[in-house]
Amino acid sequence: MPLPRRKSVASGRELWYYHSMKTTELTTEEVVSAFSRRLLPWFETAARDLPWRHTDDPYAIWVSEIMLQQTRVAAVLGYYQRFLAAFPTVEDLANADEEKLLKLWEGLGYYSRARNLHRCARIVAGELGGRFPETYEGLLRLPGIGDYTAAAVASAAFGQRCPAVDGNVYRVLTRLTDCPDPIGDAAGKRRVRDWAESAMPWDKHGIRLYNQATMDLGATVCIPVGAPRCDVCPMGDMCLARLRGTAELRPVRVPKKPRRMEDRTVFVLLRGEETALRKRGPRGLLAGLWEFPNVEGKLTEEQVSDCLRLWGLTVKEWRQRLTARHIFTHVEWDMLCYVLEVEGSGQGLAWMDREGFARAALPSAFARCAEALTERWEGR
Ligand code: ADE
Repeated sequence: MPLPRRKSVASGRELWYYHSMKTTELTTEEVVSAFSRRLLPWFETAARDLPWRHTDDPYAIWVSEIMLQQTRVAAVLGYYQRFLAAFPTVEDLANADEEKLLKLWEGLGYYSRARNLHRCARIVAGELGGRFPETYEGLLRLPGIGDYTAAAVASAAFGQRCPAVDGNVYRVLTRLTDCPDPIGDAAGKRRVRDWAESAMPWDKHGIRLYNQATMDLGATVCIPVGAPRCDVCPMGDMCLARLRGTAELRPVRVPKKPRRMEDRTVFVLLRGEETALRKRGPRGLLAGLWEFPNVEGKLTEEQVSDCLRLWGLTVKEWRQRLTARHIFTHVEWDMLCYVLEVEGSGQGLAWMDREGFARAALPSAFARCAEALTERWEGR
């Protein structure tokens, strides 16, 4: 339909812009509805081949979604295969030894996920007779399952029509609609969830694929870092942020609180063929996991000797001094690590030989220290 001619003092270029915008832009509702029609045909040709997409076993799908919380697909793949080989059914997981479970989780991070997985498996295998709840609401009642995971499992495993909105999906939809609401804004979240829901197919097959398809579009085309790949995007010609040149400004980010820096001194203690680990407390960061003994601050050798003496240990020989860093979500550890031979037992320390050490689940924050210990044990 031709646009009404208006008297205007705008320049030729502005007039061209005005006309091109009016003739090419769709409304938000039109964009969302076209998104729904185009998404699955695109996914048929571009889906990533991921192992949890070859099963409809709710247990396997649930394990994958828990592992994928805050974690990249590439990091999850190996863990997923090893985990399912060790615990092929929810009953196997329910009967698992927690230390073995944590060992399998070692390096994947966010260890409370592993504990919740265990608790959840016991509930499903015990109270629920081995069957996962088939609804979003039922899944949400289980430990470790939040809004996103409940929707992802309910849709992929049971064909329930619930949108799962993670960072990928949020980015796709806020760009598609050029939504200026900042991340974290409650009304904005509701709006995006409503768009995701209204674009969802109604047939079971479409429902099972839809959330995964939106995730893939976000992970491979409408990417989070760097310029989005609009040239290969099935939504490229109608994406409002692309048409307006705002794609890289969507979603609107709010500045993050800077991470707290923490200095720590870590002790890799050698006593003959043994080393000492300690269990962390039941709450907070890395709760209940093993760690090399450590204290806050960066200690000089003299301070280390004093500290160890207080613990009932005497330094026999200084072996190595190294530094390491580890970034957690809210804190960053800047570590100074001492490898030293000691005498004595030390309060609250568990002395382990190589076999015992290999069985203990040690967070990757201590990977560099563990490497130094292994080098020492192997005489390198
Ligand atoms: N991130 C969260 N869930 C996912 C899934 N099922 N596939 C790929 N990435 C994901």
